[in-house]
Amino acid sequence: MSNIIAPDEIRSSVREHYGKLARKSSSCCGPSACDCDFNSMYSNQLANAVPEDIANFSLGCGDPITIASLQPGETVVDLGSGGGLDCFYAAQRVGATGRVIGVDMTPEMLAKARGNATRLGVTNVEFREGYIEHLPVADGEADVIISNCVINLSPDKPQVFRDMYRALRSGGRISISDIVTNGELPAIVQSSMEAWGACVAGALDMRDYARGLQQAGFADVRVEPKGKFDAGLSLIPVHVPFSAIITARKP
Ligand SMILES: C[S@@+](CC[C@H](N)C(=O)[O-])C[C@H]1O[C@@H](n2cnc3c(N)ncnc32)[C@H](O)[C@@H]1O
Repeated sequence: MSNIIAPDEIRSSVREHYGKLARKSSSCCGPSACDCDFNSMYSNQLANAVPEDIANFSLGCGDPITIASLQPGETVVDLGSGGGLDCFYAAQRVGATGRVIGVDMTPEMLAKARGNATRLGVTNVEFREGYIEHLPVADGEADVIISNCVINLSPDKPQVFRDMYRALRSGGRISISDIVTNGELPAIVQSSMEAWGACVAGALDMRDYARGLQQAGFADVRVEPKGKFDAGLSLIPVHVPFSAIITARKP
């Protein structure tokens, strides 16, 4: 799980990349393994719940909302909330008695997400500036942690897993969409800053992802291919990054 590039260099390059995307308002994370077909990532019921331009600003690679089975009254923390789309979907599910906290390190993304929240008039969502490695939430504050195509961008994934565990209450759960691989990526890809921004270079092997979550204390860990690869791991070509659904529970 060690990086070829220094962690600070990865963070500042990733921040710059997503700052530019927020200013341009373009969708998707770049020439990457990310499915990029936001229209088919979410059900129509979810997609129709917000104005089209907000629904279209998705940089994710799956739908962590539907698999989270969110309940009214729950507190949800979204790691790397971007323009806020998953937070707005989650807010509808948890209702007025629940709340959603989006965390992101990129000021332009936070400004965009807060502007969208004001437009939508939502009162149960807030966006906090911070790193997913050191979440700005109290111990045990979250019932559910969601994230969409973000953890692959972290230069310190074991620390992300430990801090998710800290922020969840006992019995809480995680529902994550992320890019993973079947086999380690070649060093030339891992050392490309462009490939980091595109959600490729930092993708973990799916077995390492599962092991990392278990080492942080999570139980019932599942890392499963989504979409066209859901026929099974044996069909996924080695070294090809793909989108996975990751679920686990804090005992
Ligand atoms: C691929 S985008 C996904 C955004 C959003 N989840 C979505 O589905 O549209 C990645 C987001 O994660 C944020 N991010 C990346 N690394 C981060 C880190 N270490 N800490 C906090 N935010 C991070 C970026 O600023 C960006 O907004």
